[in-house]
Amino acid sequence: SSYKMWGGRFSEGPHEALQSLNNSLPYDSRLYADDLDASKAYAEALQRAGLFSAAEADKLVKNLELLRFDWIEGTVKLLPTDEDVHTVNERLLVEITGELGQRLHTGRSRNDQVVTDMKLWLRRAIRETLGRLSRIIETVARQAELHLGVLMPGYTHLQRAQTVQFSHWLLSHAFALSEDGKRLVELRDRANVLPLGSGALAGNPLGIDRLWLAERLGFSGVTANSMHTVGDRDFVVDFIYCCSMVSLHLSRLAEDLIIYSTKEFDFIKLADGYSSGSSLMPQKRNPDSLELIRGMAGVITSNLTGIMMTIKGTPSTYNKDLQYDKQFCFQSFDKLSQVLEVTCGVLQTMEVKQESMEVALSTDMLATDWAYYLVRKGVPFRQAHHIIGRVVSEAEKRGVGITDLPLGKLQTFCPLFGSDIVAVADYSNNVQQYNAIGGTASSSIVEQLRLLKKSARLL
Ligand code: ARG
Repeated sequence: SSYKMWGGRFSEGPHEALQSLNNSLPYDSRLYADDLDASKAYAEALQRAGLFSAAEADKLVKNLELLRFDWIEGTVKLLPTDEDVHTVNERLLVEITGELGQRLHTGRSRNDQVVTDMKLWLRRAIRETLGRLSRIIETVARQAELHLGVLMPGYTHLQRAQTVQFSHWLLSHAFALSEDGKRLVELRDRANVLPLGSGALAGNPLGIDRLWLAERLGFSGVTANSMHTVGDRDFVVDFIYCCSMVSLHLSRLAEDLIIYSTKEFDFIKLADGYSSGSSLMPQKRNPDSLELIRGMAGVITSNLTGIMMTIKGTPSTYNKDLQYDKQFCFQSFDKLSQVLEVTCGVLQTMEVKQESMEVALSTDMLATDWAYYLVRKGVPFRQAHHIIGRVVSEAEKRGVGITDLPLGKLQTFCPLFGSDIVAVADYSNNVQQYNAIGGTASSSIVEQLRLLKKSARLL
């Protein structure tokens, strides 16, 4: 049976090459369930508009429901003439219900159908992505709690800057991901308006109750302009943008971890399960997991460019170019899901090498705190900065740390140096001074943990 959705005005079918180019089933067959759900609701809407009897609508709904099993069991036979998931579902429905099935598409177009399916899919994709984000955030929070009090060198420009807590660094990445979560929640709310009932472009002339349909399908409202609706893929762009942001954040986390897992740093050790060996060098232990996470940001952000370039030149309303949205969208989701899983595993299983991190602390990283020491004694910060700069330079000249300089020497730079400077030589003490909101003091970190857990629960 070669069921055709269109063709009345054609004397021959599409060329084989076009048929294969046009076939979107390899991508959109995963929308089969959303397509069936939307069709069931549409059958009911047609009944409410008086186009089906209750028995007819019921028969369509039941048979659409049966098709779900064929898909699940993999018994759906695709034909070379099938164009997309919508034509397949309709063909299958007509095969069982005959003329009745042929009436389902009344007033509907694949143009409003496909956007509806995509939005139903998107809700699920967002829910799953939020779940994965929450799991990572919870993992980070657990590690941060476990390692509270562990110190490490903090970097800017990858140069040793100030002492921070390892937990503070960890949480910095989790906060980026929690913002990504909020972005997705915001998108879910904004995109959740029903496209169905827009027809091909002009709207629906058959008295379809779109508000009822929206409620039936769990949308919070209906789209306002049918021409906008059928040509709108902005929600897909938004979603891929959200995925891109997550992937960028995972990439930066991965980059930190790659650096920290080198022997030169040796702050963390990846579990065997997330490391790979070399086929040539027996001693190697490579952070392939992290490199794949970092590299994936390139794949996903290229999809963002891809969808934007696809949309860019299309005239108003629906054009077939838009069919490519699915490849960009689904690939972004699938790849992001993969790297989120792996990131979570890496974080759960990595060994935190407290000793190496603390050994890596050096007295030059106390310089800022020394400047604050002078500030507390009344020296203007700019002068204090300069004085400590000279202290650092003197220590460097002597090949020692600033804490090794005799007090007498320090007093030649500033007479306000006293014996109490030794208290500022203690890294953990110094860290605890940074107790303003957001800082690296334990009290601030505990507050950050509270905020983070709260926002993870809201995702
Ligand atoms: N498979 C198409 C897509 O994904 C569905 C819409 C086709 N509409 C049309 N008029 N050709 O975009």
